[in-house]
Amino acid sequence: MSSTLAAETIRKYEEYVNPAVAKLFRYMGLSSVEVKGDGCWVTDSEGRRYLDCLGGYGVFSLGHRHPAVIAAVKDQLDYLPMSSQILFDAPKADLAEALARVMPGDLQYSFFVNSGTEAVEGALKLARLHTGRQKVIAAQNAFHGKTFGALSATGRELFRSPFYPLLEGFVHVPYGDAAALEAQMDETVAAVLLEPVQGEGGIIVPPPGYLKAARTLCDRFGALLIADEVQTGLGRTGKWFGVDHEGVVPDIMATAKALGGGVMPIGAFTATTAVWAKLIESPFLHTSTFGGNPLACRAGLAALAVLEAEQLPEKAAKIGAYLMTGLQKIQAQHPHILEEVRGRGMLIGLLLTKEGAGGFLMSRLIDAGILVAYTLNNPRVIRIEPPLVMSEAEADFALQALTQAFNETASVFEDL
Ligand SMILES: Cc1ncc(COP(=O)(O)O)c(C=O)c1O
Repeated sequence: MSSTLAAETIRKYEEYVNPAVAKLFRYMGLSSVEVKGDGCWVTDSEGRRYLDCLGGYGVFSLGHRHPAVIAAVKDQLDYLPMSSQILFDAPKADLAEALARVMPGDLQYSFFVNSGTEAVEGALKLARLHTGRQKVIAAQNAFHGKTFGALSATGRELFRSPFYPLLEGFVHVPYGDAAALEAQMDETVAAVLLEPVQGEGGIIVPPPGYLKAARTLCDRFGALLIADEVQTGLGRTGKWFGVDHEGVVPDIMATAKALGGGVMPIGAFTATTAVWAKLIESPFLHTSTFGGNPLACRAGLAALAVLEAEQLPEKAAKIGAYLMTGLQKIQAQHPHILEEVRGRGMLIGLLLTKEGAGGFLMSRLIDAGILVAYTLNNPRVIRIEPPLVMSEAEADFALQALTQAFNETASVFEDL
């Protein structure tokens, strides 16, 4: 029965989803269907359990099916899953208030959307609206999403060039280089858009002081600082937000992924009262039918409550450090395969010396029972991005599987 489900699903991928995706999954040794998630674990159609060290690219910070989020969503289902769009809507108001409370500084007003790319779109539109300027500075190798506005800021040509022309006025500077950023700053800049740690770019932590320098430059030239916290936000890096590592308060913050508690899709862009002013003058300049629906907002509210109650940002710092120590030991054993281990909190990247080793390593890891993936803009970097609720015993399981997979990969690739 379960093998039939897998075979049928793969056939439908090949015929109706995308045969190339089916081929890639098969290449990684994946031939079953996911059927259930519990905490840090995913069970497939063959009854095999995998420790989820990818965490849905940052979605599953609370793990799979956190009971508090499931309960909130089930409760809302019995009242009003979708909004009438005309009466006041309490979950949206509650979540906007809760976000303002956990976000740094005077970030105050939120608009809710359904994904990370939409959160970035809204942030970019708001920056142009507020400043009346056009130019946006983003970083090379940045990942901000794949809709036209966000893609104009995303810094990988593979994803950009088939869709030219993108939006005008976007420039890219090397990430982490404050002097290069300064060289592009002038009075036409609407916004500087940065990830506090580049995620899909290959888990790149900027040098200390970079975010502060960006803040200072924005102030000097009257530009807005937009923090894309879609991946780094809500505890992932060991603090509530990536910008908190430098005590920087952006003018606009984009969040998504973990905001839905691993149960509902939701994103937001949040800004200060001053930056929101034009949307107060004209509140329907930006709208979304599904954005901020009650089900998603209840999930978001429950997620924020869990992050606070279970002290997940602090836990991410602790378990992240534990994982990092173990991974550095593996690096010391296999420097010919594993060039560097880097990251912040539970956003960790393993830089391989050879791109070709990644597929083999991932298939070994899947065999050993853990799920990982490489970063979208840099296939040489395997990311370790587990749920923040991971226990020390689960971290040990992951480290054991990684040790075994690297031993096997080394025996195949060391001499190549
Ligand atoms: C920093 C960042 N911004 C934006 C996005 C786009 O989010 P989504 O895939 O939900 O549109 C991502 C996705 O990986 C991301 O990592």
